[in-house]
Amino acid sequence: HAKTTIARLLSPRASKTPITALTAYDYPTALACSAHPVDITLVGDSLAQVCLGYPSTTRLSLDEMLHHCRAVARGTTSPLLIADMPFGTYAPSVSDAIRSAIRMVHEGHVEGVKLEGGGEIAEHVRALTKIGIPVMAHIGLLPQRYVSLSGYRVQGRTAESASTLLRAARALEDAGAFSIVLEAIPAVLGAYITEQLNIPTIGVGAGPGTSGQVLVWDDMVGTWSGHKPRFVRHFADVRKEVARGVSGYVNAVKNGSFPDPNREGYSMDHSEWEIFL
Ligand code: KIV
Ligand code: NA
Repeated sequence: HAKTTIARLLSPRASKTPITALTAYDYPTALACSAHPVDITLVGDSLAQVCLGYPSTTRLSLDEMLHHCRAVARGTTSPLLIADMPFGTYAPSVSDAIRSAIRMVHEGHVEGVKLEGGGEIAEHVRALTKIGIPVMAHIGLLPQRYVSLSGYRVQGRTAESASTLLRAARALEDAGAFSIVLEAIPAVLGAYITEQLNIPTIGVGAGPGTSGQVLVWDDMVGTWSGHKPRFVRHFADVRKEVARGVSGYVNAVKNGSFPDPNREGYSMDHSEWEIFL
């Protein structure tokens, strides 16, 4: 597959075919994304919950994120490699955002960063774009703000909330974001915001009218046993296969059928064995 460039994502011709994005958190998932026409691999901070067992994304540190970014980078070829900036690493000030984003590039080996927030972080987006770090914005449901949002709730359902989101999308495009993730908003609003922008939108629970879709790896392959939001579809049932494998292995060891010395063992010349004895 051809390397995804910002120019290709922005080209009107490309926007006719939906953009595919998937999260990855380690080398094997990065390889799997690169083996298929996935346009964008995202090291989402969902990493905190689905891989590290934290109760929310706000617990993730920059160092933890960088460790996983490097592993994903080693397995990424054609997809554009973007990673979430963890909670607390960009919002405090524009200079914090610049310092953290440079670490994401230098130590995480990513090609661009994603930031959650609306007009209030437009200045940060502008500063990063200006120094040559591509920024993907993220509006709608913002998991890093689940406490202040009173939980993981659909956004943009009232006229007031919808216009706040539209204003935010315009401000972020204006600030130089190359794309915007729209999370958990009504499908009509997802399509409307997409029409109003020149940059592509990537939806997760934003309906089919966005320029592309993104899903969390573990939701997509069905390994995650936690809460399943309405917008998730399991395209595989890896959890079932894992259960089959683990119970099969445990049973075979317990009942002595694994390993089979003829199939899974190494032999030794009888004469050498005699000498040894
Ligand atoms: O952290 C994440 O996985 C994300 C995507 C769902 C957009 O932000
Ligand atoms: Na995220």
